[in-house]
Amino acid sequence: MCGIVGFTGKRQAAPILLDGLAKLEYRGYDSAGMAVSDENGKTEVVKAKGRLRALEEKTDNGLAVKGCCGIGHTRWATHGEPSEENAHPHVSDDMSVVAVHNGIIENYQEIKEKLRKKNYSFYSQTDTEAIVKLIDYYYKKYNAGPVDAIAKAMVRVRGSYALAVMFKDYPGEIYAARKDSPMIIGTENGESYLASDVPAILKHTRNVYYIGNLEMARLSPEGVEFYNIDGDIIEKKYVEIIWDAEAAEKGGFAHFMLKEIHEQPKAVADTLASAVKDGRIDLSSVGLTDEDMKGIGQIIIVACGSSYHVGMAAQYVIEDLAHIPVRVELASEFRYRTNLLKDNDLVVFISQSGETADTLAALRAVKEQGINTLAIVNVVGSSIAREADNVFYTLAGPEIAVATTKAYSTQLIVSYLLAVQLAMVRGEIDEERYSSLIAELMSLPEKMQKLLENKERIQWFAAKFANAKDIFFIGRGIDYAICLEGSLKLKEISYIHSEAYAAGELKHGTISLIEEGTLVVGVLTQKELFEKTISNMVEVKSRGAYLMGLTTYGHYSLEDTADFTVYVPQTDEHFAPSLAVIPLQLMSYYVSVAKGLDPDKPRNLAKSVTVE
Ligand code: M6R
Repeated sequence: MCGIVGFTGKRQAAPILLDGLAKLEYRGYDSAGMAVSDENGKTEVVKAKGRLRALEEKTDNGLAVKGCCGIGHTRWATHGEPSEENAHPHVSDDMSVVAVHNGIIENYQEIKEKLRKKNYSFYSQTDTEAIVKLIDYYYKKYNAGPVDAIAKAMVRVRGSYALAVMFKDYPGEIYAARKDSPMIIGTENGESYLASDVPAILKHTRNVYYIGNLEMARLSPEGVEFYNIDGDIIEKKYVEIIWDAEAAEKGGFAHFMLKEIHEQPKAVADTLASAVKDGRIDLSSVGLTDEDMKGIGQIIIVACGSSYHVGMAAQYVIEDLAHIPVRVELASEFRYRTNLLKDNDLVVFISQSGETADTLAALRAVKEQGINTLAIVNVVGSSIAREADNVFYTLAGPEIAVATTKAYSTQLIVSYLLAVQLAMVRGEIDEERYSSLIAELMSLPEKMQKLLENKERIQWFAAKFANAKDIFFIGRGIDYAICLEGSLKLKEISYIHSEAYAAGELKHGTISLIEEGTLVVGVLTQKELFEKTISNMVEVKSRGAYLMGLTTYGHYSLEDTADFTVYVPQTDEHFAPSLAVIPLQLMSYYVSVAKGLDPDKPRNLAKSVTVE
């Protein structure tokens, strides 16, 4: 949570910081602030409660704040309510040290206590103020410079942080430190940048450095130097980012979410192209050999939120095609359980950001047991990507909207590719089936495109239900996995209470919530389960529900039961989630817009959940 940026160079810092923060606003948007210093180290701090717009207004779009070195922050509150006082940057009493922080300092109370005894006082409720003042304390006590002071503070604090710090005595320089919270650094043409995520600096440089855990950096206009926790200089190589800068702009769409929904055919085609060569799946870049795949005893998929929903769909597909037992686990539960893993298990971690705290902690726990790990990740160089034994990158490009759409779709594709290849290598399918499954996968982008060309009916329907109190999604098998995602999309951006239920479970409790007019969305893409789910839809209809049915072309009998029917193109049933999810994404988006909400920045949420 929270986004941080930093800039030092020849140009005025404030407009550059605001521009970078705008790209990071998806990470938090309850308050924002910046600190800019001039060539003498004189620093001005400006903060505003609310969206970034408030800070832009307060600083006349940055023009009112002068200086070529600065740090900025957009906040998602953890410690202390959203307020100007709690907004970052935070400062030491005499402004010697000014910093922005993303993460959580777990022992901040203990640090505050220690510092109070040294005559420090605190003006905010934040954990960040504690680390700023701790750095200030070591800086003055040992008089050994910024790197030494920060390193001493790093040893003392527990928790996670991406920190950008300016010192009054070191004008033009920004010091950075990181543990378990994302941060990237770029330097080009006499200017240096830091940010929580790539889109914030993409228009300035494509060459980025990933600063490792418990490492520090010193940014100046001349370049960047990296240090380990002992203060020794370390060498780092930059990574070239291939996303283009336009990918992080709205490109004529009203919202990032709508743009990203429309980017799905391309994202899926790119992800397929990365692994399908001459009509065969080639996982050599992932590092999974045929021998590895033959030897797998069980697959455990660990993820959070929508990525977990991908795992739910993948479970059905892998078990059905490759006949390998699959368990799907919520990372936040998995990490605190006794997990009886075997040496020949493969644990798969799915994450768009590659920084989700629970997923990362679960990965580390599995690695400690020496079990083989595979990450399915979108953000290149993110912590999960770096720490897993093997990585399968999704090629969704930067995803800015908080509600995932294109990353979810590419994660699904990766799980299908794995399932089909596992099935082939393990002799569960023959050449003919293998080729037809791959051909079907390759046809998905075009089918997705067709769906996107016919969205007006969904828009009309969504507007009708914008004031609904509750909406239920029901389905069986893979359709239940689609329902989970449809329901999450709807509730997170429309604030309508919604639940996904395995259709057969309804009558074990949930059916009592059905009232006259309650919208129930039935998803029916699986031939064998079609009649069963229809029966469940009839049950709720007879209790007053209004029914939307989502199925594939050919299943026209659904119209006898549903009040409103949406069709998606036919495909192999294993791959149906890729098509069925699109009308559900569109429906959520249009409900949110009809309610006058901002679908890109739903309340209380942040894109990347780097805290527990
Ligand atoms: O970055 P991750 O895929 O690890 O994020 C996990 C969840 O926070 C995420 O999928 C979340 O549920 C979605 N943004 C919801 O649309």
